[in-house]
Amino acid sequence: SKRYNITLLPGDGIGPEVVSVAKNVLTLAGSQQGIEFEFREMPMGGAALDLVGVPLPDETLSVAKQSDAILLGAIGGYKWDNNEKQLKPETGLLQLRAGLGVFANLRPATVLPQLVDSSTLKKEVAEGVDLMVVRELTGGIYFGQPRGFGKNEKGEEIGFNTEVYATYEIDRIARVAFETARKRRGKLCSVDKANVLEASMLWRKRVTMMASHYPDIELTHMYVDNAAMQLIRDPKQFDTIVTNNIFGDILSDEASMLTGSIGMLPSASLGESGPGLFEPIHGSAPDIAGQDKANPLATVLSVAMLLRYGLQEENAARTIENAVLETLNQGFRTGDIFSTGKKLVGCKEIGEAVMKSVDSQKKAS
Ligand code: NAD
Ligand code: IPM
Ligand code: MN
Repeated sequence: SKRYNITLLPGDGIGPEVVSVAKNVLTLAGSQQGIEFEFREMPMGGAALDLVGVPLPDETLSVAKQSDAILLGAIGGYKWDNNEKQLKPETGLLQLRAGLGVFANLRPATVLPQLVDSSTLKKEVAEGVDLMVVRELTGGIYFGQPRGFGKNEKGEEIGFNTEVYATYEIDRIARVAFETARKRRGKLCSVDKANVLEASMLWRKRVTMMASHYPDIELTHMYVDNAAMQLIRDPKQFDTIVTNNIFGDILSDEASMLTGSIGMLPSASLGESGPGLFEPIHGSAPDIAGQDKANPLATVLSVAMLLRYGLQEENAARTIENAVLETLNQGFRTGDIFSTGKKLVGCKEIGEAVMKSVDSQKKAS
C-alpha cells in the first residue's frame, strides 16, 4: 500500500477544530484507496510563539519541507496582534510560504447548487459561478524591499512598503495561470493596477508576452477596482483570474462570499518542486473559536486539493468532494451557510456527516 508523510499545522483559533475534522476525512478516504498517512503535527503561528517564542520554528519548517504535503488550519489572534513584526503569527505564515517556495496559490470559488440560497447575491447572479483565482504568493508588497518604519522630512512617523515584481516572478505565475485556464474553460483575466503602478505595468507586459505561447487561451486585462465591482455585478464572466499577492488576497475573500461563505473556500499553494501547502482561505476566526461553530468544509476541500495537486490521488480527492456535496444534500449546515429548513449543526457534527458520506461511497462502489 502507498504511504505518505503529512505535516499538520493546526495553528490558532478555529485552526485545530477544522484540521481535526479534515485529518479524519483524509485518513478515511485514503484508506479506501489503499493509502496510508503518517501525520506529524508541528507548532506554528501563535501556538508556536507561546511554546517556543517564534511564529515559525526551524524544526516546523524542516519537517514540513521533508513531508509529502502540508495541511495548515489558520494562524493569528487578538493575543498576538500587538507583537512586533517579527513576532507576529502572520509573519510565520509568510516565512512558511517563502521557505517552501510556494509561489502559486490556487483559490477556486464554486457556487454549489446546494448553497445558492446561502449567497448574499440574487440567485440568478450567483447560480453557476465557477472561477479560479491564481494568486501570486511569495512576492509583491508582502515581501518587497525597502519596507519598515521611519520618519519623514517633517519628523513624523511613517510606515512604508514596496510593491515589486521581477520578470521571473511574473512569468512563472503567468505560466501556471495559462495552464490552469487551459484545463478549465480557456479564459484568463489578468487583474492589475497598470494605470497607476509600475509593478503592474511590467506585470501586464509580461502576461501579454506569455499569451503568445497560449494561442488557445482568451486573455483579457482588468483593473483591480473594476474587477472588485464586476465580481459582484456579473461573476459568471470569470473563468480563471491571475493577480498579484495583495489583490489576490482581497479578491478571493470577496469571491468566497459568492459561494455563501468564506468557510467554504479551500486553497492549494504550489512551487516548482517540493511539497505543496494546503489551507482554507479563511483565518483563525477568533470570534467563534472554541465553540464548535466553525465550518470545516473549506479545510475538508483543501484536503481534496492536497490529494489532487499534492499527491496525484484523484480518486480519493473526488470521493471527498462528493462526500461534501452529499452532506449538503442531506441538509447539514453550519451557522455561516445556514438557511431556513436546513439542519443547523456544529463543526464536529458536519464532520461526522462527511465521514459517513465518504464511507457510504465505498459501500456503493
Ligand atoms: P477570518 O477569516 O478569521 O474571519 C472573518 C469572519 O469570517 C469572522 O466573522 C469569522 O467568524 C468568519 N469565518 C471565518 N472562517 C470561518 C469558518 N470556517 N466557519 C465559519 N465562519 C468563519 O478573518 P479576520 O477576522 O480578519 O482574521 C482573524 C485572524 O486570522 C487574524 O489574526 C488574521 O491575521 C488571521 N488570518 C489568518 C489566515 C491564515 O491563517 N491563512 C487568513 C486570514 C486571516
Ligand atoms: C490569507 C491571509 C494571509 C495573507 C495573512 C494571514 C498573512 O489573509 O491566507 O489569505 O494575507 O495571505
Ligand atoms: Mn486573506
